[in-house]
Amino acid sequence: MTVTYDYAGRTVLVTGGTKGIGAGIAAAFAAAGAQVVVCARIPPPGSPASGSPASGSGASGSPPPGSPPPGTPASGSPLSGSPPPESPPSGSPAPGSARAGSAPGGSESPGLAPGIRFVQADVRDPEDVERLVRGLDRLDVLVNNAGGSPYAPLADTSPRLHARVVELNLVAPLLVARQAYPLLREAGGAIVMIGSASGTRPSPGTSAYGAAKAGLHHLARCLAAEWAPEVRVNTVVVGLAATENAASHYGPDQAAVAAAIPAGRMATPADVATACLWLAAPGYVTGAEVHVHGGGEVPAWSRLAGHPAQDP
Ligand SMILES: NC(=O)c1ccc[n+]([C@@H]2O[C@H](COP(=O)([O-])OP(=O)(O)OC[C@H]3O[C@@H](n4cnc5c(N)ncnc54)[C@H](OP(=O)(O)O)[C@@H]3O)[C@@H](O)[C@H]2O)c1
Repeated sequence: MTVTYDYAGRTVLVTGGTKGIGAGIAAAFAAAGAQVVVCARIPPPGSPASGSPASGSGASGSPPPGSPPPGTPASGSPLSGSPPPESPPSGSPAPGSARAGSAPGGSESPGLAPGIRFVQADVRDPEDVERLVRGLDRLDVLVNNAGGSPYAPLADTSPRLHARVVELNLVAPLLVARQAYPLLREAGGAIVMIGSASGTRPSPGTSAYGAAKAGLHHLARCLAAEWAPEVRVNTVVVGLAATENAASHYGPDQAAVAAAIPAGRMATPADVATACLWLAAPGYVTGAEVHVHGGGEVPAWSRLAGHPAQDP
């Protein structure tokens, strides 16, 4: 059976749509016929501006190599990594650097699938968010995907880092949703928040991230009630995901990671995109969470009991 979606004539904004899960979501909406706009701080590889100082600013929101990911287990587990630098999890392009696609409409990028436009914007910056949304003629779907955190044990890392993590994962989606609301209301549109399993169970080592994601899940429920019936707001709660950074997130032993998930593998960006396509399509569902986590994580007790089905 094949399920197809027709988003022709719709405009979709995916924050953080240049790589990882966001790139998969953007590609899926574009394949379904949507006009897709993605934003990030750094132009995608292959775009003319990717050699700008911005791309070398070291301001990536991705966890540093070796650090555990969003949605990861505690320090000391087989999936954990080394501590991050004492730097914010994401930052603005270097002062004076070019802002590729800074024209409101953005620019098509050779680094992205056809039909996907790139606009350089930091979602934590209200002026960038205002410029990003002002450049849209219409907006049917907002996917608040940009997010993440380095591994950051609370007592060992700076207050500023934790504030930046909350800013990226909770305040920024609120800012973008608020700016996008008039266009979404006009279109009878939908918002999809990209949440995390870290927001539904303890996430030692990424406590600020987990708390921010829990807040994001609740923000979606609140906005669903506040903006009904014109705009629907839902969350995709993602478990361990196989992005291009998966090895640096979860360690090199992919088989061990897969064995920790009842489904036997990590989620792909396409798995997450499928849930987004469904939640964003016209329907009744709002204020809901769809868990794309392959059944979660195999409970520790079942391993301790030596249940054969859970052996790697
Ligand atoms: N990967 C997982 O296992 C996992 C699990 C659960 C939930 N999630 C969630 O899924 C989402 C995507 O994660 P991912 O692993 O795909 O991340 P990723 O590979 O690190 O990609 C993050 C994207 O967001 C952009 N971004 C980061 N900070 C930004 C900012 N301040 N302004 C604008 N764009 C920004 C990045 O581009 P620039 O760096 O160029 O700005 C990039 O395009 C996040 O919300 C994350 O919390 C991921």
